[in-house]
Amino acid sequence: MKDFLKTSDHDRSVLERLIEQAIDIKSGKQATKPLAGRSVALVFFNPSLRTRASMQVGIYELGGNPVILEPGGTSWTLEHRDGVVMDGNKTEHLAEFVRVLERYVSAIGVRTFAELKDWEAERTDPILAAFSKYASVPVINLESAMHHPCQAMADMMTIREKLGPERKKVLLTWAWHPKPLPMAVPNSFALAAAQFGHDLTIAHPQGYDLDTEVLDEIRSQAELNGGSVNYSSDPYGAFDSADVVYAKSWGSRHFYGDPDGDIEKRAPLRADWIVDEAKMARTNEAAFMHCLPVRRNVIVTDGVIDSPNSVVIDEAENRLHIQKAIMTTLLK
Ligand code: CP
Repeated sequence: MKDFLKTSDHDRSVLERLIEQAIDIKSGKQATKPLAGRSVALVFFNPSLRTRASMQVGIYELGGNPVILEPGGTSWTLEHRDGVVMDGNKTEHLAEFVRVLERYVSAIGVRTFAELKDWEAERTDPILAAFSKYASVPVINLESAMHHPCQAMADMMTIREKLGPERKKVLLTWAWHPKPLPMAVPNSFALAAAQFGHDLTIAHPQGYDLDTEVLDEIRSQAELNGGSVNYSSDPYGAFDSADVVYAKSWGSRHFYGDPDGDIEKRAPLRADWIVDEAKMARTNEAAFMHCLPVRRNVIVTDGVIDSPNSVVIDEAENRLHIQKAIMTTLLK
């Protein structure tokens, strides 16, 4: 394992071992300092609470030193495209940024959201791909345009902790949000749920389907790992007998680069696509999950997120433990 860019780069057995290691770390069984005397760069193009704090604390607790850089803020603006004439507002190319940085650090974590401007470009995850291309040290995806694998691994760990290792009926439901958001979290959650062999339903309104290549990968991973994938456009029936409800909003790829068009399209969906108590009552006492941050009484009602079935804070805690397991494995 050189990089950790998306879960499907790794076999289920590798992912299972990472979760077992994270559970050991959480229970205090692994108290070594594998990063002693080493530094890890954390490059944040976008804001973050959970990712930034959990990586910084995790590196410290593993004995290492986090080096946080914010291109365009605390470090130079960065160009990632090859062959461009850099006469615009980008000061440094990733080719130099990465090659210089890796003379100082043992791994690089990168947070770079989709800009939601150019679908064909962003679906290739160009900035993350450039980091991986130029780096000889491990690169960890801390949420890119298309994937958020550390979040998905914390989610799978949380499902295992709360509901056990058996196959579960898992619902990923789109939710209304006032503006289009990236697809990284739903892509990675669905992919990981398929890799762990769960029975996955993806519910979304017409026009909010995920990327076709990602859907192909989700389908083939479900087949490979003994799970299943179904699709629903019924924001009520999709909840029937679910063991897990994972809420997330995302933008329509058909309106990429046209946020006003997406906002107009989604306006009539607001009343139906919220997770509330009546929908949760249709489930099998489901655990409620969300990656956070979440808009209360928009994505989910106070009654659901504050209920005993809500595991959102445990999910956030598990980011710390799973990322320690990933760093320990990448850097051993
Ligand atoms: N879930 C998550 O990645 O949260 P942050 O954006 O706060 O890091």
